[in-house]
Amino acid sequence: MKIGIPREIYPEEKRVAASPDSVKQLIKMGYQVVIESNAGAAAQFTDDSYKAAGAEIVPDAASLWGGVDMVVKVRPPMENPDSKQHEADLLGEGKNLISFLWPAQNKELMDRLAARKATVLAMDSVPRISRAQKLDALSSMANIAGYRAVLEAAHHFGRFFTGQITAAGRVPPAKIMVIGAGVAGLSAIGTAVAMGAVVRAFDTRPEVADQVKSMGAEFLMLSFEEDGTGEGGYAKVMSPEFIKAEMELFAQQAKEVDIIITTALIPGVRAPILITEEMVKSMKQGSVVVDLAAEQGGNTEGIEPGKVVVKHGVTLIGYTDLPSRLATQASNLYAQNICHLLKDMTKDGVFSVNMEDVVQRGTTVVNQGEVIWPPPKLPPPPAQPKKAPTPPPAHGHGKHGHSGPAEDPAETRRRLLTYMGLGGAVLALVGMSAPPAFLAHLTVFALSCFIGYMVIWNVTPALHTPLMSVTNAISGIIIIGAMVQMAAPSGTVVALAAIAALLAAINVAGGFLVTQRMLKMFRKE
Ligand code: NAI
Repeated sequence: MKIGIPREIYPEEKRVAASPDSVKQLIKMGYQVVIESNAGAAAQFTDDSYKAAGAEIVPDAASLWGGVDMVVKVRPPMENPDSKQHEADLLGEGKNLISFLWPAQNKELMDRLAARKATVLAMDSVPRISRAQKLDALSSMANIAGYRAVLEAAHHFGRFFTGQITAAGRVPPAKIMVIGAGVAGLSAIGTAVAMGAVVRAFDTRPEVADQVKSMGAEFLMLSFEEDGTGEGGYAKVMSPEFIKAEMELFAQQAKEVDIIITTALIPGVRAPILITEEMVKSMKQGSVVVDLAAEQGGNTEGIEPGKVVVKHGVTLIGYTDLPSRLATQASNLYAQNICHLLKDMTKDGVFSVNMEDVVQRGTTVVNQGEVIWPPPKLPPPPAQPKKAPTPPPAHGHGKHGHSGPAEDPAETRRRLLTYMGLGGAVLALVGMSAPPAFLAHLTVFALSCFIGYMVIWNVTPALHTPLMSVTNAISGIIIIGAMVQMAAPSGTVVALAAIAALLAAINVAGGFLVTQRMLKMFRKE
């Protein structure tokens, strides 16, 4: 089967759907790869590098589209501005197409492709489930867009991101607010933090708070309870009351921060306006707003899609082609996503669509001329079990980390008293018959066992390494030895015993302190 990679004809589009690496992988799967001349030029992939990878180069679009069984591209098929020929009409009858398609916005295009009896896979329709992550091109592109958004902001912002103390004076760090901590938002947060900015972020889905914090940013809290988690890994439309409350928060933040990056979006719905003209006006001169949702209407009043404009002294960036501005990286990742998709859909070198597979079903929008979009809804993910309140630790066992049903404290106390009574009776019996020297040794032995047990068992189970236990046990024995020697007649021995006890005690206490610190690093708030 022949796969064709055309040159993208969308104005200024620099990406391409295959890299020399992905060509090698496709050939390994059993496909032949045909590439339109100069298809990868803007992404720094030369015709020669494709040829070296095993691809055939053809001179123009007509010979490419007409001569292959499957066309793989980035942008949805469109009319060529020069030849006035529509790419959809170039696709051979009954052939396959893989590209971004946006079926909700492109009904006419879908019908056009259906008329060609085509089978069409839309890379924007890959279900957002964990199994499909490797072919989720939306996420790969959003990741790049988030990174590039920070670079664009840095380019238009007149200061360093990181705070510095220089001979000439102090430079405060840039303050950045990111609205929407999805894929693009998190990528922007990571980039801005790495560049030294102070970053804060907000999202309607409370579960992303941990991810935001783990990337070194502050999660802005709202005293308004409404969970924004929606279906299929996306957010849901929030109530007008919630939007009003979050906008009050943004109005406050706008006066403080230097840069705002907005990525708030619910697929298929116009992006909500979250930054008003008033807020833009309240920002410091020279501030920057990057609106990633510009193409869907924008989160910012006054944003112009595809353009950079300055309003009220604030630069508003509305680029809609951020991934294309990092064309080599974007093409590499997109090509990898395509390879993963085709690997899943190729059996013994033959391409086929398995309608029983939710990922393939969701991605296929036209099947042999029949429009099958939207796909049936995926069942919701299993509900997270609500955290049960932690039972109070049972006496004597609470620190051992044993799981299991908690014991009745009264029962535990009764058992402890029984053991103590029995132990006392045995000791009394031994005391009546045994020689005094034996009794002294027995007491020391019992005390050692007790202290050894306590020092080992009080180490938190997660860190109950043999090393920790052994050093604590040795320190425990030293303490017992030192205590015994404290009654010695020689002053030197007493002094040495006191020093030994002190050092061993420092070791035990220090061990616990370090344990607690280490655990704190892994503990969620
Ligand atoms: P995503 O769905 O992973 O993230 C969107 C986030 O916005 C979600 O976390 C959601 O909870 C949040 N959100 C929704 N409504 C909100 C509200 N009212 N307030 C605060 N947060 C809200 O989407 P992804 O993949 O991160 O993309 C983000 C945006 O970037 C989209 O608009 C996408 O179209 C755009 N994008 C733009 C590109 C460009 O070149 N300009 C390139 C790639 C993506």
